[in-house]
Amino acid sequence: MPIIYKKAPAKIILFGEHAVVYGQPAIAIPVKNVCATARILPDISKKSGHIRIQAKDIQLNADYANLSKDHPLAASVRLTLEEISPVHIPSFTIQISSTIPVSAGMGSGAAVTVAVMRALSSFLGAPLPTETISNLTYEVEKLHHGTPSGVDNTVVAYEKPVYFERGKTLEALKIKHPTHWVIADTGEKTPTHETVSAVREKHAQNPEEYDAIFENIGCITKKARRTLIQGDMDNLGKLMNQNQSLLENLDVSSPRLNTLIEAARSAGASGAKLSGGGRGGNMIALGRSDSIKEIVQALKKAGAERVIQTILTEVAGR
Ligand code: PMV
Repeated sequence: MPIIYKKAPAKIILFGEHAVVYGQPAIAIPVKNVCATARILPDISKKSGHIRIQAKDIQLNADYANLSKDHPLAASVRLTLEEISPVHIPSFTIQISSTIPVSAGMGSGAAVTVAVMRALSSFLGAPLPTETISNLTYEVEKLHHGTPSGVDNTVVAYEKPVYFERGKTLEALKIKHPTHWVIADTGEKTPTHETVSAVREKHAQNPEEYDAIFENIGCITKKARRTLIQGDMDNLGKLMNQNQSLLENLDVSSPRLNTLIEAARSAGASGAKLSGGGRGGNMIALGRSDSIKEIVQALKKAGAERVIQTILTEVAGR
């Protein structure tokens, strides 16, 4: 049996985080220069069905049988096995690693799950279709933060820019012009379930005000979809800035995020906003090709822990 090695990319939300949990659309893109990997090594020295899970990034080296059913890695293995129902389960070790910042709004949990499911289903000779992997990853995402919208598992599994609306058919975005994105990490780690719960509490206290904010974010995301398809970068940047103001109204930005966002805008970004759950994690800036260097330098100078650049060149649906 050969060694199997599969990857899954990070993701970044361009528009619509938080509002997407309440039925509004979101736009997200894969970030392929950071990724999660899963490697499966057959173990012929053990009797069948012995599964070892190793994830050195989180100091995990355990037997699958000893992990709690709801441990996200064990759940990724369990759901894959349940989906495939193999007649025979050989013994193997699954090694997981990732270069995606954790709890930083880049979908690291979803990427690990997708990589594990891709590797394990291929190892068992029954590679799962993307849609199934996305749906099963959604089930694991629920263990991470309770009420996920589904955007993370979708963009990570499909590896395409997506316009996503809960319960609706997925739209892979056709993007005309390459867009340059600069992503900067505040270094503050805030789990998504915390910010989602904080927003949920505020929404429960003041539904009218919060529904209005979600609707405004939804309008911006709809405009951004058209703008992105047309390649109108200046307007896209303005929409990012408007989205950021509304995220500030939801109280999910943070002083460090605000500092980085301001630094990127002053260095020539067409627009900048937080991305993902917020209160830390990453921000994203839209640059012109001639301003990227300045934006990267300004973000580093303003204290970014890590800066990642990505160019969206993919024209989906060709
Ligand atoms: O922080 P991330 O990358 O998991 O993104 C969360 C996006 C939210 O809209 C805040 C939550 C969700 O489930 O869509």
